[in-house]
Amino acid sequence: MKSTPESVKISVYLSKVVKEIIYQIDLLCIWIGIILSGFYNGFFVRRSDPNIRLDGKVAIVTGANRGIGKEAAKKLALRGAKVIIAARDESMSQEVVQSIRQETGNEDVHFLHLDLASFSSIRSFATVFMATHSRLDILINNAGLVSPADKRITEDGHELCFQVNHLGPFLLTHLLLPILKKSAPSRVVVVASDLAFMTTRVDFDNLNSQKHYSGFTNYAVTKWANVAFAQTLAKQLKGSGVTVNSLHPGSIKTDIVREHHPFYMKVMAKLTAMTCISITLDQGSETMLYVATEPKLSQDTGKFFTNGKFFTLPKLCRDNQTVNRMWKTSAILTGIQG
Ligand SMILES: NC(=O)c1ccc[n+]([C@@H]2O[C@H](COP(=O)([O-])OP(=O)(O)OC[C@H]3O[C@@H](n4cnc5c(N)ncnc54)[C@H](OP(=O)(O)O)[C@@H]3O)[C@@H](O)[C@H]2O)c1
Repeated sequence: MKSTPESVKISVYLSKVVKEIIYQIDLLCIWIGIILSGFYNGFFVRRSDPNIRLDGKVAIVTGANRGIGKEAAKKLALRGAKVIIAARDESMSQEVVQSIRQETGNEDVHFLHLDLASFSSIRSFATVFMATHSRLDILINNAGLVSPADKRITEDGHELCFQVNHLGPFLLTHLLLPILKKSAPSRVVVVASDLAFMTTRVDFDNLNSQKHYSGFTNYAVTKWANVAFAQTLAKQLKGSGVTVNSLHPGSIKTDIVREHHPFYMKVMAKLTAMTCISITLDQGSETMLYVATEPKLSQDTGKFFTNGKFFTLPKLCRDNQTVNRMWKTSAILTGIQG
C-alpha cells in the first residue's frame, strides 16, 4: 500500500503519543517505587557507626546552618573532626557554630561564607579555605533547594535551582580537588535525592528554564545531575584516593519547602511529614555520615546510597551520551576545563 503524506503524519503522531504514554507509565512506576521505598526506609533507618573517630580530619559541610547539614556537622564534630559550616547566612551559622561547640565540646567548628548562587563567592570560599588549611578529608555537598514558585536567575545568569543544586557544587568540588587529592584518602559526598530517578530525559535547551519553567522537573533534573556528576568524577579520580559517592538521605521533616514555594508543594510536604515516610533530622543525616565515614567504604566510589546501603543508579545514568553531555555542559557553564 502506498503511503500518503497524511498517513505518514498520522503514524508519526501516533508513535509520539505511544512514546509519551510509555514515558508517563514509566514515571508513574518510578513514583510508586519511591513511595514504597519511602515507607520501607521510614520504618528501618540504618545508622552509621558512632564510634568511628575523626580526630585530625577536616570536613566541609555545605548548607550546615540548618536541616540535615547542621545535624551532620554536629555528628562529625562529635567524632572529633574539624568542621567548616559552609553557608550563606552568617548570623544563623554563628549560632549553629556556638551550639555545636557547646553540645559536642569540640571547639574546632567554624563558619566560612559560601553562597552557591554566586560563582565568585564559591571561588573566594575555595581560595580562603585552601590558604588557611593544609588538608580536606571530607567534602559534603549538602546545600540545596527546591525550585521556588517563580523563576529566579542568579548573578551568573543561571536558573537558581540549577546553579545552587548542581553547577555550584560542581564548581566548588573542582576548585577543592587539589587539596582533596593532597589529603587522600579523602571523600566527596553529594546529597542527591530519590527524585533523581524521576529524570528519564534531559532537555539541554531548557537547563536554565529558557523555554519553560517547571519547579518540580527542575529539581528532579538537578538531583539526577548530582548523581551523574558523582558517577563521572569518581571515574576520573580512580586511583587518586579520592572517592565520590551520591545519596538519597530519606524523606525528612525539614523546612526545605518554605514560603516562596508553590502551594501544592507546601501541601505535599505537610502531608508527607504526617506519614511514616518522613524521618527526623537525626535519622536523615545518617546515610551522609555513613558514606562520609564508614571504613568499609574506603574503596567504594561512583555509587549511589540510600538508607545506608548501595542502590542501583538511575536508569539515565547508564546513558553515557547524556551523562557526558551534562558533564561537558556544566564544565563550560562553570568555566572548568574537564
Ligand atoms: N528534606 C528532604 O526530604 C530531602 C529529600 C531528598 C534530598 N534532600 C536534599 O538534602 C539536602 C539538604 O536539604 P534539607 O532538607 O536539609 O533542607 P534545608 O533545611 O532547607 O537545608 C538546605 C540548606 O541549603 C542551603 N542553601 C540554599 N541555598 C543556598 C545557597 N545559595 N548557598 C549556600 N547554601 C544554600 C540552605 O541555606 P539557607 O538557610 O541560607 O537557606 C540550607 O542550609 C538538599 O540537597 C536536598 O535536596 C532533602
